[in-house]
Amino acid sequence: MQKRISKGLNIPESTIYGVVTFYSFFTMVPKGRHSIKVCLGTACYVRGGKANLDYLQEGFDVEAGGTTKDLRFSLDSVRCIGACGMAPAMVVDDDTYAQVNRGNIMETLDSYK
Ligand code: FES
Repeated sequence: MQKRISKGLNIPESTIYGVVTFYSFFTMVPKGRHSIKVCLGTACYVRGGKANLDYLQEGFDVEAGGTTKDLRFSLDSVRCIGACGMAPAMVVDDDTYAQVNRGNIMETLDSYK
């Protein structure tokens, strides 16, 4: 893709690579169909955010920053999504979930195929 962009815009590949590696929203590995972001800001952390992240990492056999083998989910941790009253919070694609815990997290994710 970087070669195509380089050729199409007549910009050196090294410049395209520099942009891709500088901005965190670009990636050079495939992403999952759905994005899970577990909040590890202070409010979420103390109310179980880290336990939620650990649970998902173990349940889906993927580390934060990675993607499940079936490309269903990409899992990331984030620092405060501005919804501290909902702690511990999780964002899946464009949906924000409150008071996430082991008892409801997998049920929540079931609807994301
Ligand atoms: S710390 Fe999680 S939303 Fe603010």
